[in-house]
Amino acid sequence: MKMDVLLGLQWGDEGKGKIVDVLAPEYEIVARFQGGPNAGHTLEFDGIKHVLHQIPSGIFRSQILNIIGNGVVLDPIVLKREIDGLGKFSIDYMKNLVISKKATIIIPTHKLLDAASEKSKGDKKIGSTLKGIGPTYQDKIGRTALRVGDILSPDFKEKYEALVAKHKTTLSFYSHPLDELPAMEEQFFAAVEFFKTLNLIDSEYVVNEALDSKKRILAEGAQGSLLDVDFGSYPFVTSSSTMAAGACTGLGVAPSKIGEVFGIFKAYCTRVGSGPFPTELFDQDGEDMRKEGNEFGSTTGRPRRCGWLDLPALRYSIMINGVTQLFMMKGDVLNIFEQIKVCTHYELPSGERIDKLSFEITEQEVSPVYKTMKGWNCSLENIHSYDSFPTELKDYVEYLETELNVPIKLVSVGPDRTQTIIR
Ligand code: GDP
Ligand code: IMO
Ligand code: MG
Repeated sequence: MKMDVLLGLQWGDEGKGKIVDVLAPEYEIVARFQGGPNAGHTLEFDGIKHVLHQIPSGIFRSQILNIIGNGVVLDPIVLKREIDGLGKFSIDYMKNLVISKKATIIIPTHKLLDAASEKSKGDKKIGSTLKGIGPTYQDKIGRTALRVGDILSPDFKEKYEALVAKHKTTLSFYSHPLDELPAMEEQFFAAVEFFKTLNLIDSEYVVNEALDSKKRILAEGAQGSLLDVDFGSYPFVTSSSTMAAGACTGLGVAPSKIGEVFGIFKAYCTRVGSGPFPTELFDQDGEDMRKEGNEFGSTTGRPRRCGWLDLPALRYSIMINGVTQLFMMKGDVLNIFEQIKVCTHYELPSGERIDKLSFEITEQEVSPVYKTMKGWNCSLENIHSYDSFPTELKDYVEYLETELNVPIKLVSVGPDRTQTIIR
């Protein structure tokens, strides 16, 4: 059996949480492989809206085992809050949630370091969610991090103090205040005590043994390919490998065991935080898109920057991930437009047209070249099959499919589980 991977192809917030929840009944395991509480994955069903940050989006399906893999950076305080928030849903998290002992722990000083680093950058800041992601992955790669398994060790407190002492040196370099630290530490250690009671395991064995016994696994990505630390618009990226290959290292699964790669994209583009965004709209269309799509961050509440779909960027993401099926999200948000634009190329100031995301692209001033299509300009509320889509929406889907050379197998027309059209 092979593991399927589901990931965002843009700058995050494509609707991954919704689709993992929709697909979950076809799987036995859902596993997160990277990122941490910077993610906000929204699920809507039975009139309930719930945002998950670190817990995989299969948690509302009682038959699913949810795994937080080794590639994740985990904040015990956020995890405790998330589990407490699930209380009203009668979820048996001792049965349905397991956590890799090799996942990395976010400690309070990581969050202070994140804030200090961002502050020092002034208007060149990344626009981090300030959840401590960058500093924690730095410690992981620098071989100084604490891992989940460490909390069970009798000398955890000593290891913790040694890391904090190191962080304090850097924080003093930034002249960053430490006033909040005692209260944060109190919360942290209370959460660690709770954390010790959870199912902490060597998840790479669970995942591989499940595949050997023909169980179906869906790996759930966080963020998006254009925020990938290698291939995103560096340095305006997150600190993990958000692409399909990240599912291998983040769960301990061999590349030969990857099956379908589901690439999720919005019918337009959004981005939170700083960095290049060639098709960003600063006009009324951008405002309307934000309002109609309710484009405000699930984790930070920040307004998301909005713009038309960017084909060169999408093609790039499809290439580096080996996407086998595309899922188009938030089609309904474009209902309001009489005309819809799609960026087919970028134009350099010299007039030269390019359609590749080269190393230089983050520094270059590029203007998008658009193809304009007629909008469908009607509600999709009562549409339950592809056949009953308005012609203009079918034209849009089929045009993208031809341009991207990968089938669009699912179109989402609303936030609820049920507002999902499978082709
Ligand atoms: P994720 O991080 O990729 O899981 O996405 P987020 O949850 O951060 O953001 C996606 C937002 O769009 C959430 O508020 C979802 O409820 C909502 N959403 C998902 N699919 C659709 C859709 O097809 N139409 C509309 N209007 N909203 C959607
Ligand atoms: P989901 O999983 C959208 C962005 C931040 C910032 C950059 C770096 O919900 O799609 P970080 O906190 O990682 O240091 O921030 O990445 N970012 C996201 N944007 N969706 C996310 O996750 C994101 N996670 C991080 O806004 O620009
Ligand atoms: Mg999100």
